[in-house]
Amino acid sequence: MNTGRLPLIAPSILSADFGRLAEEVRALDAAGADWIHVDVMDGRFVPNISFGPVVLKAVRAATAKPLNVHLMIAEPERYLEDFAEAGADHILIQAEPASTIHLHRTLSRVRALGLKAGVVIDPATPPEMAEWVLPLCDIVLVMTVNPGFAGQAFLPPMLEKVRRMRSLCDERGLDPVIEVDGGQDCAHAAEAVLAGATAIVAGSAIFQAIDYGEAIRAIREGCRP
Ligand code: DX5
Ligand code: ZN
Repeated sequence: MNTGRLPLIAPSILSADFGRLAEEVRALDAAGADWIHVDVMDGRFVPNISFGPVVLKAVRAATAKPLNVHLMIAEPERYLEDFAEAGADHILIQAEPASTIHLHRTLSRVRALGLKAGVVIDPATPPEMAEWVLPLCDIVLVMTVNPGFAGQAFLPPMLEKVRRMRSLCDERGLDPVIEVDGGQDCAHAAEAVLAGATAIVAGSAIFQAIDYGEAIRAIREGCRP
């Protein structure tokens, strides 16, 4: 299905030049990014380490666009206030118990902090893992690579999961943003939108381009039905 809407584009700063982070974020903002996607990694839940609230604060200072903060960490419940204070607008929580044990409680706390809450499901995680928390979610993020690194290849079987996630939401009369993350380019984004996605995270596809604005427009426009 295609909802007829063009997707929101959320560039992931994981592929930015960190020596010029504020400049890079301002460039994404000017290039028409809808959200800025911020990948937080702890070296435990995922094999890579990225950054935490201090860097998020610097990103916050560089843009007024919504900060879509993806926590790939163990025990995210311990850091919700820190990320909220640092300027997160959305906090996305991995559904797997290796991240948080009480997913429902953690998502409820994100909302209690006044932020938009999102659930994330990894490639091996069934969409039903998110079923009973859907009413708590403004965003559902379907990973289209295994989390941990930028620049990985898109996993085509995840399109079926996006379709199932859309059905689970439709059956309940819910309409969260369905976001996809990993290996996204013009072609895969168009397929994901056809499957029911309404937001696209893209790192490499944008940062490898000479003109970020053109890259963002190409992904968005490539999804036109
Ligand atoms: C992967 C991250 C993604 C990643 C996207 O763990 O969650 O957001 O940075 O990068 P690309 O678009 O290069 O796959
Ligand atoms: Zn991400």
